Amino acid sequence: MARKAIGIDIGGTGIKGALVDVRKGELLSERVKFATPEGGRPEDIAEVVKKIIATLPGVSRGMAVGICFPAVVQHGRTMSAANVSKEWIGFDADAHFERVLGRSVHVLNDADAAGVAEMRFGAGRRRRGLVMMTTLGTGIGTALFMDGKLVPNAELGHLEIGGVDYETKASFAAKERENLDWDSWSARLQTYYATLERLFSPDLIIVGGGVSKNHQEFLPKLKLAAEIVPAQKRNNAGILGAAWVAADKHYD
Ligand code: BGC
Repeated sequence: MARKAIGIDIGGTGIKGALVDVRKGELLSERVKFATPEGGRPEDIAEVVKKIIATLPGVSRGMAVGICFPAVVQHGRTMSAANVSKEWIGFDADAHFERVLGRSVHVLNDADAAGVAEMRFGAGRRRRGLVMMTTLGTGIGTALFMDGKLVPNAELGHLEIGGVDYETKASFAAKERENLDWDSWSARLQTYYATLERLFSPDLIIVGGGVSKNHQEFLPKLKLAAEIVPAQKRNNAGILGAAWVAADKHYD
């Protein structure tokens, strides 16, 4: 396994990247961030990723790139598109980025990448049984791990509760949009996590996304049988996990 890889995290509003030491699970460079181009089209996004990599110090020719993306990703193809262009649906993202970047690329779902980082280097380290990673951001991302092994592309942010796609009620974006205070948002999170628990009986739930830095405001309010803990890698989890998966698949 290579020791260094580039990690890129593509979101609806921003694209960030860094050089990663995949053995230690640490960033080796500053995190570079650009706005997601208007429309979120594949050509435009790939140009921004290229620009980010060109900016990173210490990048060498053979380094692989891990890219995480807010979509179902099967065998390098993006099969859905949340907050980005519909052109991504059914699109061979691995091949597209490899062509533009001239490097070995591995694309995966953003919550899966964040979960990989937490399982290797953060809140899920050495945890067995069923661990559920959740990210509370523009949407709700979820990742499932059984005895440390990823079951990819769980899309449980879209669980329908009371007839609505619950991501639209309980994501951090919903809190912001509706100006919910911590108590009202926590009540929605209680409904969401209690439903997850009823359906999956997880041993551990990890809560990530930028808002997890304020976990004291909402996690203590949740009443669940499962242990529920904040993520440790927070905003870097996607970059770290994507880089780790790319390095794991690439030998140079
Ligand atoms: C998407 C997921 C993604 C999550 C977090 C959801 O809307 O369907 O694929 O992981 O947002 O970005």
